[in-house]
Amino acid sequence: MKKNQTPVMKIRNLTKKYGDVIGIKDLDLDIYKGEIMGFLGPNGAGKTTTIRACLGLLNKTAGDVKIFGLDSHKDSLEIYRRTGYLPGDFGMYSELKVKTILKFLLYQSGVSDETKMKKLAKRLELDMEKKYGNLSKGNKQKVGIVQAFMADQDLIIMDEPTTGLDPLMQQKFYRLLREERDNGKTIFMSSHILAEVEEVCDRVAIIRNGELQVIEKIDSLKEKMGKKLQIEFDNHVDTSIFNMEGVKDFEMDGKWATMIVTSNLDEVIKKISQQNIINMSLETFSLEQLFLTYYSDGGSGR
Ligand SMILES: Nc1ncnc2c1ncn2[C@@H]1O[C@H](COP(=O)(O)OP(=O)(O)O)[C@@H](O)[C@H]1O
Ligand SMILES: [Mg+2]
Repeated sequence: MKKNQTPVMKIRNLTKKYGDVIGIKDLDLDIYKGEIMGFLGPNGAGKTTTIRACLGLLNKTAGDVKIFGLDSHKDSLEIYRRTGYLPGDFGMYSELKVKTILKFLLYQSGVSDETKMKKLAKRLELDMEKKYGNLSKGNKQKVGIVQAFMADQDLIIMDEPTTGLDPLMQQKFYRLLREERDNGKTIFMSSHILAEVEEVCDRVAIIRNGELQVIEKIDSLKEKMGKKLQIEFDNHVDTSIFNMEGVKDFEMDGKWATMIVTSNLDEVIKKISQQNIINMSLETFSLEQLFLTYYSDGGSGR
């Protein structure tokens, strides 16, 4: 991702009001070629509104969105041709076979080569002979994922794509995302799960109450946030061993040590392992904790 590049998506002052209700307000965001941008926020934050406004699927109240340098409303057909989209409420006709649905959607994208479609279905263990209506929630979501990638378009926009996928399938999906990114695709995906965005995205934009809070590289976010490490020792430990880079907010309560590890996890664990350990846990913060930590630190998001 290079800042001197023209962004693939350029969002400026994007605002959507539903009557008196503010969906999103004055949103600015650039998404660059070859990155996975996570769009993170709790339910009702404005993720779906943003995505739909960007694709011209709802009328924005104000602002400007350029995708591939094209106007998101006036040039929406050209944008659709180059964009794979998985809506948050993806659904298809129950009576049709998966293969019929996918072939139809592929044809609509102007692509006749079914190779990628078949590869994706196989990889995600999706049975294309089944009727859509007979699929489980997770398998329905896989149909949505396959159709978003099968036409091999430059930009992929997905609204909470892992909804309904089991943890193993989520991992397969993350691997797919990384591969697509490494092949030069640009990916914009929303999520309400911090751990997921941390795991798969290069950058994250965090939205709350319709307003963008933070745009940050995942690596910097991880460094700022850290993980909460708790250990129970079975003997007295010299706490000075925790006086090391990457450890903050260290506390000892009886045999339990609690600390925030912001970097150097490997070193920390190696030091701890020289003691006798009874119990241990490592926690990623929740989205709400992230908001609290971020701002109590005087975070510079605004
Ligand atoms: N069609 C609608 N009519 C009225 N309010 C809406 C509509 N769609 C969304 N909203 C409101 O806009 C805000 C953002 O919603 P949404 O974009 O769906 O959030 P998210 O996708 O992050 O869960 C919420 O307060 C929601 O209630
Ligand atoms: Mg939504």
